[in-house]
Parts: sequence; C-alpha cells; structure tokens
Amino acid sequence: MARSKRIEYLAQLTTGYDRVLDIGTDHGFVLAIALENKWIKSGIASDLREKPLNQARKNLKGYSVEYIISDGFKDIKSDFDLAIIAGMGAYLITEIMDNAPQGNQTYLLQANDKIEVLRQYLMEQGFKIIDEYIVEDKFYYVILKVIRGDMSLLDEDIYLGPILKNKTEALPYYAKKARQIEKILPHADQNRQEILKKMLKIYKNI
Ligand SMILES: C[S@@+](CC[C@H](N)C(=O)[O-])C[C@H]1O[C@@H](n2cnc3c(N)ncnc32)[C@H](O)[C@@H]1O
Repeated sequence: MARSKRIEYLAQLTTGYDRVLDIGTDHGFVLAIALENKWIKSGIASDLREKPLNQARKNLKGYSVEYIISDGFKDIKSDFDLAIIAGMGAYLITEIMDNAPQGNQTYLLQANDKIEVLRQYLMEQGFKIIDEYIVEDKFYYVILKVIRGDMSLLDEDIYLGPILKNKTEALPYYAKKARQIEKILPHADQNRQEILKKMLKIYKNI
C-alpha cells in the first residue's frame, strides 16, 4: 500500500475521533492506516466515483467501514465526528464545504494549492481554524483543522496561517514560497505584480 508521509500524517490526526468520514477517499489509505492502528473505531469511505470507491473497498476489507457514493456531503446521511477532505484543489474543497452539516463536527482540510483561498472562504463562511500543520513530502502540504465558529484573519493570516505562522517548522515553507514568487514576479502583468509584491513582503517578513 502506498503510504506517503502526507497520508500517514493525515491518518495520525484522526486520533481521538470515533467515526471518520473521508470525502474523496480514493484508495482509502487514510482510513486504512487509522483503523489498522485503532486510532478510530469506524469509518465512512466516500467518493464521487465508483472506481476509486472499489479500490477503497479492497484496502479496507475487514474493517468497520460504510461505503457511500456522494458528491461531497450531499448523500452522507450517517453521523461522523471528523471529516477529511484532502488532496484536492482549494476551490473544490470550498464547494464541498458549502454543504457541510451544521453540527459540531471537526474537519481536516488539505488543499493542494491556493491555501489562502481556502482560509478566506472559511473566515467568510463561519468556520474557525483551530490548528494548522505542515508536512514536507516532496512538496509542502498544509493541513487545516477546522470547526464551525467565528474568526477574523488579517492579510498576513490568510497567507501564513493564523496558527502556522507561530510554528518554526513552517519557516522553510515560507522561504520556498518567497523564492517561487521572486521567480514569477518579473513575468506577471501590472495588477498581478501588485498582489505578488504584497505576498512576497508577507512571506519575507516572517
Ligand atoms: C486526488 S484524489 C485524493 C485522494 C485522497 N483524499 C488523498 O488525499 O490522497 C481526489 C479524489 O476525490 C474524488 N472527488 C473529486 N470530487 C469529489 C466530490 N465532489 N465529492 C467526493 N469525491 C470527490 C475523486 O474521485 C478522487 O478519488
């Protein structure tokens, strides 16, 4: 089974929760590791498509798992205390979160890109980031732990993360972001350059 550092990290973050919903479960690896280690009691493996869900069925055989074909939360009727939405683009995650239940569930969100878009959305839609983690697994991945609630983020928080900015392990990630911006800055148009300069200042000042 392919067990990337990112997947292992996500699985460990399920510790302390009982029933975990994995949206876009694909091969079901996160649930497999969490169940194997008895970090959780049961899981809900969900995907938009039948093919990945069948892969999950194979990898999760013998464990207490419900399998559901669903577009995000739309056809999820079972209870869960933690939902994971990982390995997708930020915009897709925001679309899925539009239908998140109104209860006191916790969410682990890991966008492959545009983490600032996700943070802005969460602030505007009544979600609160309660922790942030960074994993280096060839690329840097940021994971947000989120509940319903209010938060107010400054520009700096949107880019750096309100909690991640206080973690020293994030410094190499910020330095890499600054280098990437410096590389693309000369090729951007005037409007984009203004935004990139603002971002660069934030990533360099930390
Ligand atoms: C790139 S894989 C990520 C798999 C895994 N979550 C991870 O972190 O590695 C994305 C998965 O999300 C599923 N997916 C895409 N849009 C979805 C949606 N709206 N609802 C549920 N699953 C979706 C895809 O079918 C695919 O299996």
